[in-house]
Amino acid sequence: MINVNTFKQKKQNGSRLSMVTCYDAWSAGILNGTDVDCLLVGDSLAVVMHGFDSTIHATTEMMELHVAAVSRGAPDKFIVADMPFLSCSKGLEVAMDSVQRLMQAGAHAVKIEGASHQLAIIRQIIEAGVPVMGHLGLTPQSIHNLGGHRVQGKDEAGVQKITADARALEETGCFSLVLECVPNDLGECISRSLSIPTIGIGAGPDTNGQVLVLHDLIGTNPDFSPKFLRRYADVHEIIRTSVQRYHGDVVAGSFPSVEESYG
Ligand code: KIV
Repeated sequence: MINVNTFKQKKQNGSRLSMVTCYDAWSAGILNGTDVDCLLVGDSLAVVMHGFDSTIHATTEMMELHVAAVSRGAPDKFIVADMPFLSCSKGLEVAMDSVQRLMQAGAHAVKIEGASHQLAIIRQIIEAGVPVMGHLGLTPQSIHNLGGHRVQGKDEAGVQKITADARALEETGCFSLVLECVPNDLGECISRSLSIPTIGIGAGPDTNGQVLVLHDLIGTNPDFSPKFLRRYADVHEIIRTSVQRYHGDVVAGSFPSVEESYG
């Protein structure tokens, strides 16, 4: 399993990091047998697994259950867990309680969206011995403040803000930083200026690593096609046609066969 030092070493060596989301034990078991560097129990699970319309609905209880499942399924992988909506804005005690529950459930690090208003809490979490991954650019927990899912850092003020936040997160001690939906040149510029690795999603090819939502990369949702997404499979169609065939066999009486039955 890699650790926080591997993240730095990979950046120094110029090797790219791969991260993918994971929410449950069965997909964790599959990912455990791949070379992917790191699993993210992202709060996107509120949308993907629970059908909510945003990550705002993720809670610590929800995250904790999914982290535990992923940890059981992928014992060899470095697991990062998202701190859910407002868990860092309600003061140190609430934040530390969340951190404790996610780490005891099996996470090796936590990811926190945003910077400025919560640097003090991020510092305390790191000082308590817990690695923190930052997350800047499009931060889905602030979706209503951002006015929707939009590319961030398109004007000079946005560039200055994200660049300053990235520097502050590095100075505070974050071991890596997710950059979501920012122009390629901003992704590249921040990646070059930091000593910690950046992991991009919709941030161009020059970040130090990439992250995708597993369900998006295997094609479970044909209606979700952001520009940055590359689909490696069409699992929606595989599941749909498999279940259609199964249904047809049941209705026709051809399943189960004699061989599939206990004589
Ligand atoms: O929750 C999530 O899946 C994420 C990634 C998109 C980076 O934060």
